[in-house]
Amino acid sequence: MSEAPHGAPIKTPGQLIAAVIAGFGIPVAIIILLAVYVNNSTRTGAGTDIEQSVNARIAPAAQVDVRDANAPRVYKSGEEVFKAVCSACHATGTAGAPKFGDAGAWAPRIGEGYDTLLHNALNGKGGMPARGGTSPDDYSDFEIARAVVYMANGSGGKLAEPAQPASGAAAASSAAAPAAASSNENAQAAAAVAALASVPAAAPAAGAQSADAAQAGKALYEQVCQACHAAGVLGAPKFGDKAAWAPRLKEPMDTVYNYALHGKGAMPPKGGSNASDADVKAAVDYMANAAK
Ligand code: HEC
Ligand code: HEC
Repeated sequence: MSEAPHGAPIKTPGQLIAAVIAGFGIPVAIIILLAVYVNNSTRTGAGTDIEQSVNARIAPAAQVDVRDANAPRVYKSGEEVFKAVCSACHATGTAGAPKFGDAGAWAPRIGEGYDTLLHNALNGKGGMPARGGTSPDDYSDFEIARAVVYMANGSGGKLAEPAQPASGAAAASSAAAPAAASSNENAQAAAAVAALASVPAAAPAAGAQSADAAQAGKALYEQVCQACHAAGVLGAPKFGDKAAWAPRLKEPMDTVYNYALHGKGAMPPKGGSNASDADVKAAVDYMANAAK
């Protein structure tokens, strides 16, 4: 500190650098020396288990499980979510919950369609708490959807396994949490669209060109089209809703087939499946007949 520049103003860049180094470096060196000194004296004076007891004292009161938001999310399987959460009620039928494996109790519910099941699982219904009482941070919509499918399929249902959201989409959706507030509808739609992504794998069953076109139409509807048309997701005309279908069915049937085959607005071509044209037409007939 003897170089304090009162009497000798700094004149060259070299002097400036030297002054800066001295100004910072000397105090830092002193601090380091002091720290080493204090540390040493503590150790020598304190015996061996002081370190342990200090560690115990400075241990965090609660362990917080920090999740890396950027890490690729590992989704729980439907079975895992079921065992961890849903089984509390659905294993034994607590509070009137439809029991896992009880096809009789599930059949009418599965008949409401996957969307309704998912909607009720996410938002609650009667004694069923929203998301089984968990938060979206615990289990994503996708994981709840998997649990729904796991339960329904373990109880006589044949729902398609929901497709895993693309990791980019997952990141985007967690980043866009505020937007998600108004997203019941969106979540439903997303789930429907996600369900669709898994359709092609399941399509051969529907596409099994059965002799009976009507049967193929119904099968395809149940496997694919109902993802949107059962509950009216994305503005799809609802199955059996005469008012919604009447204006559409005023058009020639070929036009209506064409929409179903090639898409229209939010309606994906063939409902996103790879079913045969004949089966898609049969599904249109099946829906149209139900709305007459
Ligand atoms: C606290 C008890 C409880 C827990 C935990 C619970 N449920 Fe339920 N659940 C119920 C009850 C009760 C019903 C029947 C509600 C009714 O029909 O009024 C039900 C019904 C349902 C239905 C059928 C809804 C319909 O459309 O009829 C689904 C699907 C469902 N639960 C999914 C889940 C999933 C998925 C979980 C776990 C993430 C879960 N439940 C956890 C009590 C529970
Ligand atoms: C991802 C959701 C979704 C799926 C899956 C879906 N649809 Fe649609 N569908 C829609 C929507 C949305 C509309 C309304 C489109 C519009 O009018 O803009 C629609 C409209 C229709 C229409 C009426 C077209 C018209 O205006 O005349 C027919 C027919 C139809 N869908 C058939 C099908 C068939 C058959 C399947 C299954 C193979 C299917 N849809 C699967 C969303 C879907």
